[in-house]
Amino acid sequence: MSGLFDPYTLKGVTLRNRIAVSPMCQYMAVDGVVGDWHRVHYAGLARGGAGLVVVEATAVAPEGRITWGDLGLWNDHQAQALRPIVDAIRAAGAVPGIQIAHAGRKASANRPWEGDDHIAEGQPNSWRSIAPSPVAFGANLPRVPAEMTLADIARVQADTVDAVVRARDLGFAWLELHMAHGYLAQNFFSPLSNHRDDAYGGSAANRARYLLETLVAVRRVWPQDRPLTVRLGVVEFDGNDAMLGEAIALLRDMKREGLDFVDVSIGFNTPEAEIPWAPNFMAPIARRVRQETGLPGTTSWYISQPDEADALIRDGQLDLVMLGRPLLANPHWPYAAAKALGVENPAWATLPAPYAHWLARYR
Ligand SMILES: Cc1cc2nc3c(=O)[nH]c(=O)nc-3n(C[C@H](O)[C@H](O)[C@H](O)COP(=O)(O)O)c2cc1C
Repeated sequence: MSGLFDPYTLKGVTLRNRIAVSPMCQYMAVDGVVGDWHRVHYAGLARGGAGLVVVEATAVAPEGRITWGDLGLWNDHQAQALRPIVDAIRAAGAVPGIQIAHAGRKASANRPWEGDDHIAEGQPNSWRSIAPSPVAFGANLPRVPAEMTLADIARVQADTVDAVVRARDLGFAWLELHMAHGYLAQNFFSPLSNHRDDAYGGSAANRARYLLETLVAVRRVWPQDRPLTVRLGVVEFDGNDAMLGEAIALLRDMKREGLDFVDVSIGFNTPEAEIPWAPNFMAPIARRVRQETGLPGTTSWYISQPDEADALIRDGQLDLVMLGRPLLANPHWPYAAAKALGVENPAWATLPAPYAHWLARYR
């Protein structure tokens, strides 16, 4: 059985180990364009030894940003600014990935450390959010979104394809479509936020239509030899027992349409959820999704101990571990983990000689 430090190959892409940087918004962009901080942040994470670095949620359209500081990929200027980040991740031996997103009814919020709440319409940095139905999230996000017309749906899907083409042409090798966390795709999937009575609402198949159509459209432009993945919220922890089964059915349909891998996550589509936070608590759910769909997959959330991460891979629960905050706290977590696990051929062996040569002798 493979362990945390064994390479992982999917389609034409090989990761040097099974450690992936989970996408993490920095909310530090201006007009969707990366700046100095992003260059430092992503180069540091890649040089820290992870096999895959997934760039944060990157919006397909201005109204699809969570906050005014989100990244965007709706114009060529934004794309050009991302190029040094792709190059830096590769230079450090990691594979560059990107998460493509639309925030739906959660859009137009203050940055987390500035309130994390909706900005009132008409105030600076606010805009009208859109969603399948005019239903607010509630709690800190009380604004009612505009109901999307069929033309809006087609436009956002076209924007998604355009953003994916830009990501493809930049050389990103791993694509994650954000279909979790209460953002637009999850808004369509969940009966909590989707009250439509047309082909995009009602039955589980209708609520899944936006997600499946988007996947199909993206598959047409995303190269066959690069992994096409989704992050899907499969559980809400609000007592809706049907959701996991609906998610598994959708993922099976997506697999038939060319989905390669799933990042199993949480719905975050209601403030009423009671999430049983605990170390590795999503791993059994991810395992079930992997088993029942036949898709390789991963999850994140409170995976932080090297021996536990290694066991999740060895026991066949996950193909990769996605780490977030442990890598913010210590981008060199992979080095420390290799040492703790006594791994012979650790992450630094893939770095250029000034590191690989010297660190191989430094124990
Ligand atoms: C600062 C920060 C920003 C995040 N931004 C995103 C994001 O852009 N897209 C996403 O899917 N999840 C996002 N998340 C969730 C992480 O990807 C990850 O799933 C979560 O932090 C749980 O993993 P952890 O316990 O290892 O931190 C973010 C988390 C943090 C801490």
